[in-house]
Amino acid sequence: MSEQCDHKCSSCGEQCAERQSEQDLSAPLGKLSTVKKVIAIVSGKGGVGKSLLTGLLASGMAKRGKQTAILDADLTGPSIPKMFGLHGKPTVIEQGLVPMRSKEGIDIVSMNMLLPDASEAVLWRGPILAGVVKQFWSEAIWKDIDVMFIDMPPGTGDIPLTVFQSLPVDGIIVVTSPQDLVAMIVEKAIRMANLMKMPILGLIENLSYFVCPDNGKSYQIFGESRSKAVAEEHGLSLLAALPIDPNLAAACDRGAIGEYPCDALGDVLDRIEKLTPHAKKA
Ligand SMILES: Nc1ncnc2c1ncn2[C@@H]1O[C@H](COP(=O)(O)OP(=O)(O)OP(=O)(O)O)[C@@H](O)[C@H]1O
Ligand SMILES: [Mg+2]
Repeated sequence: MSEQCDHKCSSCGEQCAERQSEQDLSAPLGKLSTVKKVIAIVSGKGGVGKSLLTGLLASGMAKRGKQTAILDADLTGPSIPKMFGLHGKPTVIEQGLVPMRSKEGIDIVSMNMLLPDASEAVLWRGPILAGVVKQFWSEAIWKDIDVMFIDMPPGTGDIPLTVFQSLPVDGIIVVTSPQDLVAMIVEKAIRMANLMKMPILGLIENLSYFVCPDNGKSYQIFGESRSKAVAEEHGLSLLAALPIDPNLAAACDRGAIGEYPCDALGDVLDRIEKLTPHAKKA
């Protein structure tokens, strides 16, 4: 043991007799909660449609009769409640926070629900934000949840790090768009997931093309896609491609994302249903 030993073994490379085993960072669920599967929606880049895809996937899963939840981990830019037309505050009982339920039956916890005013800015540093995400997991009452989707903030900062270290993530979906710049940033998210040994289900490309309502022709507004190539470079599959659709943006804006028919995500939902949940893994 070195003379300057501070007993922080996780940040020390020395092999010595006093070495303590790695700290267990996993966050426990509350006593009343069960969550069978956890799917995180990530992207290195902001504004590519993570929240929208989280909303569409959760709605699709709820339509299949699964008890579905969304943990909105984007604490500084939460957009899930608005998408589902949820207003007001969740109730807090002795055993914890009761998530708000959307009309589709999706249990949702989001920072926006807890702020005195939804337009209030959250100006907290990373470690505090990370702690709140753990509290959402541990202190909300997630009752009999078959699939929980986690809407992540953009980037590879404290919150994604905490979610990957502390929550039993069964699969990650990486959202991308056809732009080259996005492809490069998405690679960072893939590398982060790989470094942390997180299972990646695959990529979904959003904003892939636009079908002109006047002539039915398809246009690649953001240029030719590199998503399939990027996915293949990393041994992943491109799970789905979603068009730019003004009706989809309008459905989000009026809090009716659950009404948008989204057949393009059927295969992704099948894959999620087939995943072996963490509870059943050795
Ligand atoms: N396929 C689409 N067609 C039309 N509008 C879309 C589509 N995808 C996303 N949008 C719109 O683009 C905006 C950004 O989408 P969204 O909020 O889902 O991105 P995000 O990746 O979650 O962003 P952030 O990184 O800020 O959390 C939203 O207003 C959304 O309605
Ligand atoms: Mg978002």
